[in-house]
Amino acid sequence: MPRHAPPHAQPYPRARSRPWPRAGAAVLGLAALLLAVVNGPAAVGSTADAADTAAAIERAAAQRVDNPYAGAQVYVNPEWSANAVSTPGGEAVADQPTAVWLDRIATIGGADGRMGLREHLDEALAQDADVVQLVLYDVPGRDCDRLVSHGELGPNDQPRYRAEFVDPIAEILADPAYADLRVVTIVEPHALARLVSHTYPRNIYTQECETAKSSGNYVNSIGYALSRLGALPNVYPYLDISHHGWLGWDDNFFPAVDVLHAAATAAGSTTDAVHGFVANVEDYSVLEEPYFDVDDVVMGVPVLQSRWVDWNRHIDELPFAEAFRAELVAAGFDENIGTLVDTSRNGWGGPDRPTGPGSTTTSVDEFVNASRTDRRFAVQNWCNQAGSGLGERPTAAPAPGVDAYVWAKPPGESDGTGLEFPTGLARDPMCDPEYDAYPDASYDPTGALPDAPPAGEWFPEHFEELLRNAWPPLN
Ligand code: BGC
Repeated sequence: MPRHAPPHAQPYPRARSRPWPRAGAAVLGLAALLLAVVNGPAAVGSTADAADTAAAIERAAAQRVDNPYAGAQVYVNPEWSANAVSTPGGEAVADQPTAVWLDRIATIGGADGRMGLREHLDEALAQDADVVQLVLYDVPGRDCDRLVSHGELGPNDQPRYRAEFVDPIAEILADPAYADLRVVTIVEPHALARLVSHTYPRNIYTQECETAKSSGNYVNSIGYALSRLGALPNVYPYLDISHHGWLGWDDNFFPAVDVLHAAATAAGSTTDAVHGFVANVEDYSVLEEPYFDVDDVVMGVPVLQSRWVDWNRHIDELPFAEAFRAELVAAGFDENIGTLVDTSRNGWGGPDRPTGPGSTTTSVDEFVNASRTDRRFAVQNWCNQAGSGLGERPTAAPAPGVDAYVWAKPPGESDGTGLEFPTGLARDPMCDPEYDAYPDASYDPTGALPDAPPAGEWFPEHFEELLRNAWPPLN
């Protein structure tokens, strides 16, 4: 039974700008205090450096905005662009902004010949960009249910996460050279949601997720990251809320609000550190299903009972994000928090896209299957989905309460592989098109494209598919 009544969607109150810190403390005069918070006493060098830093912090604080994307030019990652133009047709989107993923400690300095964090920030300044988008993705015991993306840090490595991952990132972002950049930081995709959706008594629970929950590892690591990032006036932390196919059910939705609140108030953080929330990171869920509604009844049977919907009151991301946001505000987050939605791969255009509702004279399952634009075999399928397309292009303030549609997952980068690779790279059956994903009477394909490279590597066939099936279509 749900613990609360279903949330009522409310129009988002939108402030044009808001002071920083949100508690309303005056910005001027805080610099000395902030300096200590940001750098710690040991990091303060000469008096001249300290004065520069204090001035930069004051400047950044004075420039703080409600929606960092409003009127902003967003950084285009040249490494992703080079991959995009290497695929025929890719030049149509190669100038779109995508997020930079920090998925290992080594990526901060630059791993495998790729640009490090400072290089990206310097390049952003060279582009005269206003916004840079980062994804922090290295929580200890990461991705407790997926084989493919277990991270480098084990469940006991929280001290390393803090000292070797979060601290160096925060120190770089606090460099006065970057005070005029608005740095959107997407904090740990999927992690907190998994503490609900992949723990007992859900049938997809794993021991690793149980450990992540009982140890407090995710909550405390993320709380620490928020406390460091939230102290920086040029940084805008957005906390991940996964997507409707994980948290949409009431039994997950409401406990997840509690988990997010616990993380936002752990390890020295407060809810003020959270600038907003981000839905659908790396996922394929559509913004809005145009041809059916969760309240529809077909031949006397509610759509809720269809196999696809499976009693989930949420069938698409915008209403999910809106409802989730309202619940988070009710739980104590700032009433002006915004949301982001990752639309990099939720387009579902192409020849298989329905053009209207299916027939209502067959069964409810046939109606839903003929009406839905999300063409996955199951809403939980996540790996390199065949038939998916680029979604809405990155856009600022596209809908009430939504700060932006973003391309957080750089389209064309693999979600993982179903192939055996030599050392250290796990194969995930969910990336194998032949695997039966859900053990019941029926065969449930994973929907993954074949022959994918490991997670994060460029997958040209996937990118070609995304271009072909873009929705809205590419001009
Ligand atoms: C991978 C990361 C990668 C990111 C962006 C994730 O699924 O695990 O290694 O950086 O996607 O492509």
